[in-house]
Amino acid sequence: MPEPRADQSIQELESRCLERIAAARNAAELETARVEALGRKGGIAQFSKEMGKLAPEERARIGKLLNGARERLETAIEAGLKRFAEETLRARLESEWVDVTLPAPGPRRGHLHPITRIQRELEELFRSLGFAVLDGPEVETEYHNFDALNIPADHPARDMQDTFWLEGGNLLRTHTSPVQVRGMERLGPPLRMIAPGRAFRNESVDASHEHTFYQLEGMMVDREVSVAHLLYFMKTLLAAIFGREVTVRLRPGYFPFVEPGFELDVQCLICGGAGCPVCKQSGWVELLPCGLVNPKVLRMSGIDPEEWNGFAFGLGLTRLAMMRYGIDDIRHLQGGDLRFLEQF
Ligand code: DAH
Repeated sequence: MPEPRADQSIQELESRCLERIAAARNAAELETARVEALGRKGGIAQFSKEMGKLAPEERARIGKLLNGARERLETAIEAGLKRFAEETLRARLESEWVDVTLPAPGPRRGHLHPITRIQRELEELFRSLGFAVLDGPEVETEYHNFDALNIPADHPARDMQDTFWLEGGNLLRTHTSPVQVRGMERLGPPLRMIAPGRAFRNESVDASHEHTFYQLEGMMVDREVSVAHLLYFMKTLLAAIFGREVTVRLRPGYFPFVEPGFELDVQCLICGGAGCPVCKQSGWVELLPCGLVNPKVLRMSGIDPEEWNGFAFGLGLTRLAMMRYGIDDIRHLQGGDLRFLEQF
C-alpha cells in the first residue's frame, strides 16, 4: 500500500464518519454511525487488519494516524451522545414541570350510599314524630331473634328465615325485629322506636333477594293504639320517601309477633304495575309488613297487654331504595361497584 494513498484513505474515512456523526438526528442514528466507524467490522477496524502487511516503521506511523482518527471519532460520538441526553432532558423538563406553588387538589369527595340516604331521611322523619332511633346487635341470641317474637323452636316460621348459625347457639339476625324486644326490655312502655340495620338470610341471590339486606323496624307501644294509627304512620312514611302519594294495598299477612298482621304492598314503581322481575310480574311489591303487636310478645318482654298495646312494622330498606331510584336488580346496590353508586 503506497503511503500517500493510505494516509488519504484514513483521512477520507475520518471525515466521512464525522459527517455521519454530525448528521445523526437521534441516539439510534448516532449508534449506527458509531458502529460504522468504530465497530468490530467498522472502517477503523478494516484498516487495522491491513496493518500486518506493512513494514515496521510504516506500521508505527499508520498506527499513529489511525489512533488519532479513532480518538477524534470517539470524541465526536461522545459529544453527540451528550447533546442528545441534554435534548431529552430539556424536553422532559418542559413537559413534566410542576407548579409547586399551586394549591393542592384536596381529597376526593365521596357521597352517601342510596340506602344510607334513605335511612337517614327516615331517622329524621321518625325523630320528628317522637320515635327513638335504636341500634341492636347483628349477632343475636336465638331468644331475641325468634322465641321472644313468638317463634318457638318448632314453629314453621323459622323455616322461612333460614340463617347463618354461629357457635354457641347465636345467629346472624334474620330481621331487625329483635330490636323491638330489646327496646321493650330496656325502655318499657310507652315506647316509640325505630331500628334501622342489616339483616341476613341464607337465600339464593337473585334480582330481588340478597343474603345481606337492610330493614327498618318500627314499634309503638301505648294505650289504645289501633290500626288507624298504624296506617297513619305508614302513609306518612311512604309519602315522605317518594315525595308523592303512592298506591298501596293492605292484605292479611301472617307473622307470629303481630295479631292481626298485614302486608302493605306498594304498586311497583319500576314497571308501574305492569309486571317486571322486581315485582315478580305481579305489579305489587311487598314493602311494609306490619300489624298490631301480639299480646304474647308484650307479655314476654314484661309489658302488661291489659294496659298496653301497639303496632309494629318491618320496612325493607333495600327494596325501598330500589323502588325510589328505579333500580331493577338488588345486586347493583350491594355490589359496591362505584361506577353504579356514583350515579346517585
Ligand atoms: N321481621 C319481619 C321479616 O323480616 C317483618 C315484619 C313483619 C316486621 C311484621 C314487623 C312486623 O315488625 O310487624 O320478615
